[in-house]
Amino acid sequence: MARSTVHIVALIASLALVSNTSAEGLAPYKIVGDGIAESLTGSPGDPARGRALVLARTTTCILCHSGPFPETRFQGDLAPDLTGAGNRWTVSQLRLRMVDASRFNPDTIMPSYYRNDGLVRVGRNFTGKPILSAAEIEDIVAYLATLRN
Ligand code: HEC
Repeated sequence: MARSTVHIVALIASLALVSNTSAEGLAPYKIVGDGIAESLTGSPGDPARGRALVLARTTTCILCHSGPFPETRFQGDLAPDLTGAGNRWTVSQLRLRMVDASRFNPDTIMPSYYRNDGLVRVGRNFTGKPILSAAEIEDIVAYLATLRN
């Protein structure tokens, strides 16, 4: 191979590596039983950021759920109250539910927040991208785990 060809091949290989880890890609995860045991980012999430995300309009959680959110008047009643979710579910189960709630209930109305294939009813902006990032999923999981009563 000519020297310049080798350089081009190396360049293409390195670009492929970069695009693998781009913001739009999914971090690999392994479903074991009814959960995902390992953090999607390799580190624990931040519960305070997770709480803020659950309350944020962008995640739409409280359109369906209620919970221990005294500062918010309007909360949903289409889904279980999130109070005590950390007692009812392990961290591993909470993570899988956030990634893909349809694993627990194939007919669920809860969005799959970390899946980019086979989604129905996704807005155009979301096509091909997970709704939340791996770090956001971990923050929310960390927060839900604190909801013990
Ligand atoms: C469109 C409605 C909807 C949205 C939006 C939604 N969920 Fe859900 N969620 C549900 C329903 C319905 C269930 C009950 C189980 C099922 O049908 O999947 C549920 C179940 C859960 C559970 C288990 C509840 C329990 O303790 O039994 C958790 C935890 C949860 N959702 C967290 C969230 C979080 C966090 C968000 C936002 C990032 C969210 N959900 C967004 C509808 C929704």
